[in-house]
Amino acid sequence: MKWRTVLAAALLCTSTLAADTPTGHYQYSQPSRDGIGKIYMGREISHVMGHLGAGWLERGERERQERTDLLIDRLPLKPEFSVADIGAGTGYFSFPVAERVPQGRVYAVDIQPEMLAYIEERKRKSGIDNVLPTRGSVSDPRLPASAIDLAFIVDAYHEFSHPREMGEALVAALKPGGLLVLIEYRAEDPRVPIKRLHKMSEAQVRKEMAAIGLEWVRTEDYLPQQHVIVFRK
Ligand SMILES: C[S@@+](CC[C@H](N)C(=O)[O-])C[C@H]1O[C@@H](n2cnc3c(N)ncnc32)[C@H](O)[C@@H]1O
Repeated sequence: MKWRTVLAAALLCTSTLAADTPTGHYQYSQPSRDGIGKIYMGREISHVMGHLGAGWLERGERERQERTDLLIDRLPLKPEFSVADIGAGTGYFSFPVAERVPQGRVYAVDIQPEMLAYIEERKRKSGIDNVLPTRGSVSDPRLPASAIDLAFIVDAYHEFSHPREMGEALVAALKPGGLLVLIEYRAEDPRVPIKRLHKMSEAQVRKEMAAIGLEWVRTEDYLPQQHVIVFRK
């Protein structure tokens, strides 16, 4: 009888993997310490940062450590832009960016309801009403088609469990000529004090964006710890 149980478990496992890899873009391995054991284009995907990390995202020293002020100032925004902040977390970036697009809007997309509750509360308290909290799924940010002028992703892409599907959905959401700005801790720099799977190299980011048909525009390294890599649809 025991072999039947083993076979059933193996089949269940296979069908789970098959359901998760409709297009065969992923491989699976023993998970490493910070990873989920799912490999995309040679990179193991990291765990998602849970909502209990909200305090870390909002820490007082963040602006000085990461120069988040510079990042916000240098995003190529216009007042009427429709913007998407993907993996918005607490909305740390969504709200200051929304103030820079007074005739536009910022879709603040996250998969964790606790993060969206945080954003809702911040919206109520700040009165900044052009932030639109948006509950995405792991494979779809649920944005309107061809509607976004600029999407940005800060320290989140490396933890998307379905990067290919997310990337393709983002491309569909961008207007023709729309920009995707990816901000990731620099894997090339051993002095950046962040776990390995939570960093990405420029080469890896460019490879993954090329695979979904985005054109590389420029890489900017004006931040102390992160790459800012700009792509165009
Ligand atoms: C490390 S936090 C960064 C939050 C924010 N960008 C910041 O820098 O303050 C990453 C966020 O990405 C979210 N996330 C993970 N996978 C996602 C997905 N497929 N779609 C949208 N958000 C996702 C997580 O829930 C988490 O809130």
